[in-house]
Amino acid sequence: MLRVGIIGWRGMVGSVLLQRMHEENDFDKIDTYFFSTSQAGEKVHVLKSQESTLHNALDVHELKGMDILLSCQGGDYTKKILPLLREEKWDGHWIDAASTLRMDSNAVIVLDPINKEAIENAIKEGTKNWVGGNCTVSLMLLAIHGLIKEGIVEWVSSMTYQAASGAGAQNMKELLVQMGELSKSLDDVTYETNILELDKKVQMIMSSEKFTKELFSVPLAGSLIPWIDEELENGQSREEWKGSVETNKILQSNGFKTFNVDGLCIRIGAMRSHSQALTIKLNNNYSIEKIEKLLASANPWINFVANHKEASIKHLSPAAVSGKLSIAVGRVRKLNVSENLISVFTVGDQLLWGAAEPLRRILNILINKKV
Ligand code: HSE
Repeated sequence: MLRVGIIGWRGMVGSVLLQRMHEENDFDKIDTYFFSTSQAGEKVHVLKSQESTLHNALDVHELKGMDILLSCQGGDYTKKILPLLREEKWDGHWIDAASTLRMDSNAVIVLDPINKEAIENAIKEGTKNWVGGNCTVSLMLLAIHGLIKEGIVEWVSSMTYQAASGAGAQNMKELLVQMGELSKSLDDVTYETNILELDKKVQMIMSSEKFTKELFSVPLAGSLIPWIDEELENGQSREEWKGSVETNKILQSNGFKTFNVDGLCIRIGAMRSHSQALTIKLNNNYSIEKIEKLLASANPWINFVANHKEASIKHLSPAAVSGKLSIAVGRVRKLNVSENLISVFTVGDQLLWGAAEPLRRILNILINKKV
């Protein structure tokens, strides 16, 4: 059995990954070693069958003993450890959740329902670095997979509604704390309470010095944040830039027609599912029936929601999708502004297909090939 070392397994993405690996019995197929940057030597009970002793995630010689290393430890760890391992001539496979290596020419962004062929070719060519894509990119590509396969997309404008989980576990907690602080305004509320007075109270709590906002720096509960990640010189946020460059890297590697993607990335007060409102320019005036059919049948994870009010509000939301592998796709209609322009609204769990699942799947691809 291949020896697989997992680093960063206690974090949010790592925990979701382990949960999925348990569900799919992946641990039966590998010899698993858990690494830690701070608790080497401790015993943990992660595997159902046995206790594991933690290995030192900062010890290159221990890491070198692995055939595959899977890191959910973050970009700084990758930057520090991977070059040392390669200098030591370690030629194992490195699977990574962090964005650090995504645009490297010797790394493949993995999303196998879309770029399986590219992955297979890269394995044959000796590629050893495999990176999960940005969550909005992976979720969007799976959502519009049918249009990509058909090669009919000219460009996409993606306006995102990104959950707190994308910013980290502590940010999810801060969102809940903020919600709790706002709900204090409800203490003496009755149906007779004047709504404007109540709203004023909420506003006062939000703008008070004491309002908890250490991580987000502004209120997210009851509000939104129209910027995600760093500011770039061209006016884009880094998150918006990733949307375009990662999409094109994935499409190009698999021989698909590429297209420009741009739009605004917005943080909203959802917990762990990202939503995206897409405006898509198609290369022709296709019937809505054809478009719906292409979208709905593209891959096994699509949950296509007919463009009606009741179905849309019930199935097309973070509340409906969180914790599931399905990608909800709906609100598909021709936009009145121009023919060939359609709208699509899509929601997917940011921790599953947006982060852990593509990593779990490349791990399985490598295991099955016994590389
Ligand atoms: N950058 C994403 C976000 C998370 O902030 O929502 C993961 O790709």
